[in-house]
Amino acid sequence: MADDNVDILATNITIPRHIAIIMDGNGRWAEKRNKARVMGHRAGVEAVRGVVESCAKQGVEVLTLFAFSSENWRRPKKEVGLLMELFMTALGHEVRRMHKNNVRLRIIGDKERFSSALQGRIKKAEELTKDNSGLTVVVAANYGGRWDVTQAAKDLAGLVRDGELSVEDITPERMASYVSLSDLPEPDLFIRTGGEKRISNFLLWQLAYTELYFTDTLWPDFKDDSLTEAITSFSLRQRRFGQTGKQVEEAKADA
Ligand code: IPE
Ligand code: IPE
Ligand code: MG
Repeated sequence: MADDNVDILATNITIPRHIAIIMDGNGRWAEKRNKARVMGHRAGVEAVRGVVESCAKQGVEVLTLFAFSSENWRRPKKEVGLLMELFMTALGHEVRRMHKNNVRLRIIGDKERFSSALQGRIKKAEELTKDNSGLTVVVAANYGGRWDVTQAAKDLAGLVRDGELSVEDITPERMASYVSLSDLPEPDLFIRTGGEKRISNFLLWQLAYTELYFTDTLWPDFKDDSLTEAITSFSLRQRRFGQTGKQVEEAKADA
């Protein structure tokens, strides 16, 4: 009986084109083991490797990972320093691995606050992988949703100031093309690990119609089966985009 259920689900799985994840719970994972928080961040990098590989295998097109928020600078200096170091080393070996797997890597966020060495590595990694045609991995670093919307507004204001755009031409569609990820499909599935049920200034504009999924699993423990569970939950939802359920059913039947 249970097996039958799994079969039914397996045939109805819709793979999201774009998954966006708040990878939370590294610190608690380490603290539970009486280890330093940085050990949790290290284990977190391994979890990233696993999820990148399963997304690539399952045909997900875009995976966006929240690695460091614009508010995370408020953490103890030592933790911020260790996170930057980890980011630096991961940009070395993980990028080589991604490149081998045909992954295209992109970093979003305000990169100017990073050291010039880190900015250089980011540039090199993006350059190296830019023509890869497999999964696109977007890492949000020193990213904040409010920053993102603000920088789009600034760009548009600049165009108006220079006489290249009229105020009337500022539409939601135009805004959408100035925020991060504008050239990629919108996130279909949002996952937050670690038990908190909040957005923490992640993609504010882009998540308008994303299906939200929260799990208590701490990020370093988030494995293949956790991803499958999230995708299964996503598959069981009806996305209505403002319409009625009946309209959506009818449109599906007509397709
Ligand atoms: C997420 O894990 C990683 C970053 C924010 C860099 P946390 O470090 O927030 O882990 P918890 O929430 O303290 O367990
Ligand atoms: C969100 O996690 C940011 C990242 C995972 C990078 P936080 O742990 O910083 O979020 P809050 O502080 O609990 O909201
Ligand atoms: Mg946290």
